[in-house]
Amino acid sequence: MLHINEEAARCLLCEDAPCSKACGKDVARAIRAIRFDNTANAWRWFDGCTDADLQAAENACIHYDRPIRIKELKEAALQEAALRDVPVEELPSLELNFCDIVCENPFFLASSAICTNYEMVARALEAGWAGVFYKTICKQDIREVSPRFDAVQKDGTPFVGFRNMEQLSENSYTMDFDILRRLKQNYPKKIIVASIMGQTEEEWIELAKMAEQAGCDAVELNFSCPQMRLTGLGSDIGQNPELVLFYTSYVKEAVKIPVIPKMTPNIMSMTTPALASYFAGAHGISAINTIKSITMSDSAAVSNKKTVSGYSGKAVKPIALRMIYEMTGNPILQKAGIEKHMDISGIGGIETWHDALEFIQLGCRNVQVCTAVMQYGYRIIDDLILGLQTYMKQRGIVELKKLVKEELPNIVLPSDLDRETMVFPKIDRGKCIGCGRCYISCQDGGHQAITFGEDRQPKIVGTKCVGCHLCRLVCPTGAIGVANRMPKKS
Ligand SMILES: Cc1cc2nc3c(=O)[nH]c(=O)nc-3n(C[C@H](O)[C@H](O)[C@H](O)COP(=O)(O)O)c2cc1C
Repeated sequence: MLHINEEAARCLLCEDAPCSKACGKDVARAIRAIRFDNTANAWRWFDGCTDADLQAAENACIHYDRPIRIKELKEAALQEAALRDVPVEELPSLELNFCDIVCENPFFLASSAICTNYEMVARALEAGWAGVFYKTICKQDIREVSPRFDAVQKDGTPFVGFRNMEQLSENSYTMDFDILRRLKQNYPKKIIVASIMGQTEEEWIELAKMAEQAGCDAVELNFSCPQMRLTGLGSDIGQNPELVLFYTSYVKEAVKIPVIPKMTPNIMSMTTPALASYFAGAHGISAINTIKSITMSDSAAVSNKKTVSGYSGKAVKPIALRMIYEMTGNPILQKAGIEKHMDISGIGGIETWHDALEFIQLGCRNVQVCTAVMQYGYRIIDDLILGLQTYMKQRGIVELKKLVKEELPNIVLPSDLDRETMVFPKIDRGKCIGCGRCYISCQDGGHQAITFGEDRQPKIVGTKCVGCHLCRLVCPTGAIGVANRMPKKS
């Protein structure tokens, strides 16, 4: 049995992939489509590949363990192929306004290590990113540590979460604004946003004015870096709504371009500083920056010390979505969005088009990506765009704005959930391999509602099962599905 996503996830996603080179067909691109949740389009690169091509590709695979099963991936991908008659040019446009700025698609580079010089950003823009929130510009002496990154891994999955101790741009601020000026001149249709951080109100104003003079479309205020060497900066500001109000109003007074404060998640309620930003005249909100964590692995320990570092990547997505929801669900911020185009830029663990969609459906009109680009490169934009376009086409949606806030009505209070009915898990004997993982979890973390005997066939005990579905989540083969919903027995 081939698990298509697992097998594609094994792929090392090589540079100048030997598999494609060996067979002359871009099979690496097809595998990448599967890896990034875009299996529906993998046929575009598998079509026309003969068995001999695929065998040559497998023979050339340099995986350290065993070659990727490319032939089987093709078979499985073709079964999920969609829109076979639709050329890419006929897929819907992803244009979406953000803070009244026309953006060719909602995908932006987040201010970070992925956008620290002209050449990097230019490459990303040419690859298809709609714009950049450039690495935070400041007038401070930034002295970074080495190493500065650390990753949380689990069961061989790289970067479940990512920790960094990086601060702001190490370039001089004059050099950074010159880079932004050149980017805007050479890519006039792309959206260039300067992220800034001042130490005094004068510095905030000076940097914001320089951003405007450089031709930037907007300025993002970094109120959220959680690991600054000096105190009173970054998230120290974002945690204090009065300071957020104070600095936002100063910048707002000084420039005409949209002002977008970036919120810290290291606070009880992000809505309070977001409201402070709104009352100070902000045009948009970016959220979230990284979550405070402790850097743990030995390899990242600097002089055998540990420190507070920012946590990002896949693991933070549900937390980011919750914070976004609290803002987009807030009546004052909702009204500001409708009447004043005060929009929210969603950030946190976005890796696939599906992740991005979740932010858009909660009300974001643009999304920013950092960790996934650090891990996989700018090329993930290909599947972000194509995957979202395909989803829209399949649903018959022609404008991306139709998806904005679509999921808000489906988020309810815990008190409004249906507690009178339940759904039993249902075991598909054809897929069950008898590993007993469902039994172990139900015994030790559930309601002892699964039996497992000599025949290695798990059985659900209806009188004990409460329908929690832990068994379904731990099943490695997807053999446990859902039965019909029914009233609970009283
Ligand atoms: C290495 C690194 C450097 C970062 N530098 C900045 C920065 O200079 N300014 C900023 O506002 N956010 C910075 N961030 C935070 C990201 O912009 C983003 O908010 C966060 O990583 C969450 O997104 P992600 O899960 O896609 O990485 C940085 C993040 C990382 C990992």
